[in-house]
Amino acid sequence: MTILIAGGGSKRGIGRATALRFAALGRPVAVLDIDADAAEDTAREAKDAGSPAVFSAYVDVTDQASVNEAVQAVTNALPPITVLANIAGISAPTRFENITLQEWERVFAVNVRGTFLVTQAVLPGLRERNEGRIITMSSVSGQRGGGVFGASHYSASKAAILGLTKTLARELEGTGITINAVAPSMVDTDITHGAMTEDRKAELAKTTLVGRLATPDDVAGVIVFLASPDSSYLTGATIDVNGGSHLH
Ligand SMILES: NC(=O)c1ccc[n+]([C@@H]2O[C@H](COP(=O)([O-])OP(=O)(O)OC[C@H]3O[C@@H](n4cnc5c(N)ncnc54)[C@H](O)[C@@H]3O)[C@@H](O)[C@H]2O)c1
Repeated sequence: MTILIAGGGSKRGIGRATALRFAALGRPVAVLDIDADAAEDTAREAKDAGSPAVFSAYVDVTDQASVNEAVQAVTNALPPITVLANIAGISAPTRFENITLQEWERVFAVNVRGTFLVTQAVLPGLRERNEGRIITMSSVSGQRGGGVFGASHYSASKAAILGLTKTLARELEGTGITINAVAPSMVDTDITHGAMTEDRKAELAKTTLVGRLATPDDVAGVIVFLASPDSSYLTGATIDVNGGSHLH
């Protein structure tokens, strides 16, 4: 059944790595992203990687009409959605005093409202079939209070994701639908828009016990696990993918 990846466009991102993993397992994959061309590229790569059916479309996860239209389009194009990976997210290193209201609102809109809207749009279909897996993206930043790249707005939004995930897990009691959060530390992707220096990356790598930064594939592998039958006893959980950089 179909895996829906919201925010799966980015070439070096966690969403694309996740799409390719599911494709290699022979799953239909739907890729939504605000960058429609990038989403199409991911879908094409997923097809080449073995997905039997792919679909891509534009979505702005902050916009309810756009989300509903995109989810409906996926539903029309592919087999029923059984797994939702809420990957779309933005970050910025702005110090607290310098965050404008507009920037604060944008980070929360993409990271929190986006997860809310996409999950709400997909949930009725999962409930109808009494099965489903929802994966949300938090961050070690939301657990320990920044310290990686994103600043206070990002950290607060990723902490909010944990609250949403746990509360919805309770509301989904007995439905056959689980929801779990993934909390990576620094993953080498383009979310920093080139603002992370190689020296800073090397410093962060040293703060891990594994001795390196995470790759998108490190996170994708955990998302695949959370979508698999082997994770059926996990719900409301936060899975750390931080190389041992934050033990708690
Ligand atoms: N990279 C890291 O170090 C790291 C660490 C912890 C958590 N995360 C989280 O993982 C997720 C993926 O991050 P990434 O590093 O792959 O980033 P990325 O920038 O490579 O990918 C994010 C994707 O979200 C899309 N997107 C942004 N705004 C959107 C919107 N309004 N509507 C639809 N799509 C939108 C982008 O176009 C992009 O394709 C994010 O939620 C991020 O906060 C990343």
